[in-house]
Amino acid sequence: MIHLAVYLLCFAVWSPFAVADNHASDAAVSYHAEIVPILKRSCQGCHHPGDPNADLIVTSYADLKRGGMAGEAIIPGKPDESLIIKLISGDEPAMPQNQEPLSAEEVELFRRWILEGAPDDTPTEVDTMEGNYPTYTVPPVVSAIAYSPDGSTLAVSGFREVLLYDTTTFELKARLVGKAHRIQSLTYTTDGKILGVAGGSPAQFGEVQLWDTATHTLIKTIRSSYDTVYGLSFSPDASRIAFGCSDKTVRVLSIEDEKELVKFDNHSDWVFGTIFSTDGSHFVSCGRDTALKLVEVNTGSFVDDINSSNKGYGEINTIARHPSENQVLSGGEDRIPRLYKIFREIRRDVGNTDFNLIQAYEAQSGSIEGVAFSGDGTRFATGCASGETRVYNIQDGKRIASMQGDAVAVFAVSFHPNGTQLATGGFDGKIRVFDAVSGKLLNAFMSVPIEPAGSEDVALVVTGMT
Ligand code: HEC
Repeated sequence: MIHLAVYLLCFAVWSPFAVADNHASDAAVSYHAEIVPILKRSCQGCHHPGDPNADLIVTSYADLKRGGMAGEAIIPGKPDESLIIKLISGDEPAMPQNQEPLSAEEVELFRRWILEGAPDDTPTEVDTMEGNYPTYTVPPVVSAIAYSPDGSTLAVSGFREVLLYDTTTFELKARLVGKAHRIQSLTYTTDGKILGVAGGSPAQFGEVQLWDTATHTLIKTIRSSYDTVYGLSFSPDASRIAFGCSDKTVRVLSIEDEKELVKFDNHSDWVFGTIFSTDGSHFVSCGRDTALKLVEVNTGSFVDDINSSNKGYGEINTIARHPSENQVLSGGEDRIPRLYKIFREIRRDVGNTDFNLIQAYEAQSGSIEGVAFSGDGTRFATGCASGETRVYNIQDGKRIASMQGDAVAVFAVSFHPNGTQLATGGFDGKIRVFDAVSGKLLNAFMSVPIEPAGSEDVALVVTGMT
């Protein structure tokens, strides 16, 4: 089904949204060029595979044809008997629910398409997308990794794709190919049903992809800003996403209708990380401007600077939230992991002491690029630009293990949910899995399949759609 996902991504870029007016009335209606753009714009938000209303999915011809709870929505040749026409036409059309009705021209397109037999003219090259994966002659930098909440899968960033590995056999299970060239952030919803992928193509677009983990199909792609986006997080109820942008903003969007709920612009530089509070009412963001900011989601209003940013702590590259408490762990340029209370309990003073600080830990051997909590919230791990990875006890700050997580620099760390294993990824493109207590290396493997190189100076070669 990966071909479908790729196809949808293509479509998001290339399809004109309104073509109804240009349609020459004697030509046959094209499902691919005329119907799909309307479905995508007006219907897909509520009828996608992740949570289809009335069991109707409109993201592929086959699904649309199959219909929903009431059975077939389209009877080829018989528009007047087709449920879809009944619902989109009339004085107060039922669909799209609670939204602007389709224009008369658009309804007419649907009607004529069904009258003409509702043919599927989806281009055949779509089918060949399956297996059309990026090929690599040199290892890509690994910028993000994440264990699935059930511990069965390790998701790893590649170039224009995410690779899923089985955590017992370490075999490649699936490759989720998208349009965004760079993948910066990977995160699962708490129930594990959706894998969120954030990234983009520099100076072109930022993108969040939501993948159905059961079927490995793309639920939706949300484009935002004109550059790569960072630090994706889901609200606890998985209804919203937050991410940071190079235009110094943090955006919060509702997944269902893709509405931008918050565009927070109080940072003065790139934003690298976001997390939600345990009840989803607030988010915390961090970035190059050295600040940790607390914002209320519903109003979008700035609440507090969690850290005191006049202390020269340096850029904050990464944050993680404690699995059950309103505590945030930050790491960055000054090499010191710091644990903060998200909500202030003591009045801010003139002295501007770091009042929310719970603990500052031992300095690391390089700037901190990744932090992660163990599932039970008793330990945390750091990944550093020195290539080192360490595990600490949160309570007493004791270092439990030190490991070489990459030959050059570690960019991402993730704990297995049962807390026994820690995976790292970084500059040399290898995934390393360690025993999180003893620090013993359990496995190391290349993050992507590497083709035998024809020449030493061949850089990254990518075939297929670019
Ligand atoms: C805001 C959400 C939303 C949007 C947008 C939306 N729908 Fe629906 N749709 C629903 C819900 C909810 C139901 C179930 C309604 C009910 O049971 O009363 C439904 C039911 C349907 C059904 C009946 C399916 C069945 O078998 O029972 C069809 C057909 C349908 N929608 C088509 C469309 C089309 C076509 C569009 C776009 C033009 C669209 N919908 C847009 C929410 C939506």
